[in-house]
This record gives sequence, structure tokens and C-alpha cells, in this order.
Amino acid sequence: MDFIHKRVNDRLAQRRDEGAYRDPLVITSRDGRIINAGGRTLINFASNDYLGLASSRELRDAVADAFSRYGSSSSSSRAVSGTFARMIEAERAYAEFFGYESCLFTQSGYQGNIALISALFEKGDIILCDKKIHASLAKGIALSGASFHGYNHNDLSHCEKRLRSAEHSPSALVAESLFSMDGDIPDFDTLASLKKKYGFCTIIDEAHAFGVLGNQGRGIACGTADIATGTFGKAFGLFGAFVLMPKAIREYMINFSSPVIYSTALPEAHAVCALRALELVAKNDDARAVCLEHADLLRNILSEYGIIATGNAQIVIIHIGSERDASRIASRLAENGIFLPAIRYPTVPRGKAILRASVTALHTKDDIHLLAGKIREYIS
Ligand SMILES: Cc1ncc(COP(=O)(O)O)c(C=O)c1O
Repeated sequence: MDFIHKRVNDRLAQRRDEGAYRDPLVITSRDGRIINAGGRTLINFASNDYLGLASSRELRDAVADAFSRYGSSSSSSRAVSGTFARMIEAERAYAEFFGYESCLFTQSGYQGNIALISALFEKGDIILCDKKIHASLAKGIALSGASFHGYNHNDLSHCEKRLRSAEHSPSALVAESLFSMDGDIPDFDTLASLKKKYGFCTIIDEAHAFGVLGNQGRGIACGTADIATGTFGKAFGLFGAFVLMPKAIREYMINFSSPVIYSTALPEAHAVCALRALELVAKNDDARAVCLEHADLLRNILSEYGIIATGNAQIVIIHIGSERDASRIASRLAENGIFLPAIRYPTVPRGKAILRASVTALHTKDDIHLLAGKIREYIS
């Protein structure tokens, strides 16, 4: 056990030295865009409750009612104890809404990405991926045993160079439609033509786009993606996730994917909540518009202040660089009523720390002006 203690203590000390130590805020209460933590009231710019559904009376009542009616656990995996008819019905509704043949709910987006990619690919396969894909996609690729080639973030000419130099035709390309830590979007027209030319399977994680972007929140990858993954934990205001794919691949996952076979399934009540969340997402054009408008407003004010803020949608990225500076600014914001996380190594590369603002429909224009003003004050 001594070597374990040494390893753990050394690595924690290293994280502290690098300014990358994580000590998550303890939240005592949350009400919409406001949280209380450490005796302070803070405007929350860290939440991905983009449409405000997690805080909405409508969804909270539906969740309370569903769990009260149908119980709190599925109590086993699907393979052992079966699948609830309500779960199949909800999965069908998701497949239909998002324009795919079938859908499988998973316990989280992290698990869904690993469940899909680790089962579908194997040694000898080649996977091309954007260098900034989410940790869960990268972990799925690593577990699959396939070899992978990363291309520079959203640089599809570099992607094509990689395609040309691969030993044989790549089996798949993996990317996100709205990148979580950059807030930007790949060029889907070019991606579609590469797919046509090279014939790979396209897997797109739409975790941040579903619910916010596209017609009624349908995302932006349908038509290019063969398989798309989404999470309930962001715009849908719930927990759990979903994989959208051809029918045969759903069947394959149920038979071959270890995280699906050996883990307790989401409860029946979740399916009822998911259906309600889908109805609320589909009809919430106003919330989508407000959320995106506020994000543009934040970028515009910051740019007037000479601060470069990037992102194409509701995720606004302020590039800081040093881990220590990012942590210092985040701490000062927190001391002054704003919770906005500093994103540091290893979530982003060393020396490329950012401040990441998740703008939601719950924020007011005053919140946005206040945030921009405080960033200007603390950044210098
Ligand atoms: C792009 C992306 N994919 C997947 C996930 C994982 O989803 P979940 O939180 O449901 O595990 C996240 C973050 O949470 C994400 O940002």
C-alpha cells in the first residue's frame, strides 16, 4: 500500500504545483441561474442547463410523478432482467425525432460513447478523430484496440491529409458537432464530402448541440453522421444519455457492448421523463433563441473590451493560457458573485487554460453585462 500512497500524494502535489488541482465547489442550493455556495450567492455560468429545463417546474413535476409511479431503479441490466416497454417506446420516439433508425438509452454520455466505440471497433481498424474530442470518445477508441490518427482541431484539410496517408481505408471518423471546450462547429459540408469520398463511418457526439441547435433542437449532424450520441444531462435537464444509430448496431451493442450488458439499466421512470423532456425541448424555440442571443451578446461586449472570446453558439470561450491566471480570475469572479469555471490541464492542453461560460436561457442581459465587466476588470 505504501507505493500507492506515494503515487497518490506525489501526483496530487504535482497538480497543486501546476495550478491544476481540482476542488469542486460545494453547492448548498440551486435555483435556476443562481447557486449558493460557501455562504455566497453566485450567478451560475457553469451549468449546461441550456434551456433551463432542469430548473423548470414542468420537468421537475414530471420527474417527481414518474419516479413516484414507476419506482426508482430498474434493479438490473437489460440482459438480465429485461427492458421496459416504456423504455423501448421512448427510444423509438428519440430515433424518430432525431432522424435515425434506432436509439439506445445509456446511463451517461461518458458510458454511451465508450459502450459504442469500444464494442464496434477492434485491432486492425483505423479511426480518424479530431484532436479535441471528449475524453469519453478518446477512451472508447483506446479501449477498442483500433489504431487512431488525430487531425488538428476542426482542420479538415489536415484530416484529408491523414486520410490519404493512412495504411488502409479508415473505418471511422469521430468528432463533435459543437465542441465542448472550444464551443465551435466543424464544416459539415466538407465532412460530408470526405465521407462520400473515403466511405468511413461517421460518429458525431452532439452532446452540446442537441436541444439547442438545429430545427427544434435536432442538432446539426443528421445526414452526415451515421451514428450520433447525445446526453440528457445538458439541454434535456435530466441524466443519462442516448445513442442514435442503424438498427443492427443497436442490436450489436445489446449483444456485444460490455457497459450495456454488465450495468444496471436506467429506470422505467427515466423513459417517461425522457419523453416529457423531448416534448419540452421540441417546443422551446424561444429558450433556444434567448440562449444563443445572450452568448452573442457576451462575445460582442468582450470584443468591444478588446478581449477575444470564441465559440459559434452558447459556449463562450475566453482564452487565458496560464493555469494560475485562469484560476485567479475564476476565484475573483467567485468572490464577486459569479461562478465561471477555469478549465485547465488535463481537460485542455498545458498552458492553454480557458474560462468557459455556458450561457443559458435563464440568464438575463444584466447578468451578461455584469460578467463581461468583471472579466474585463480581473483579466488585466
Ligand atoms: C462532448 C461530450 N460528450 C459526452 C459527455 C458526457 O456526457 P454525460 O455527462 O452524460 O456523461 C460530455 C460531458 O459531460 C461532453 O461534453
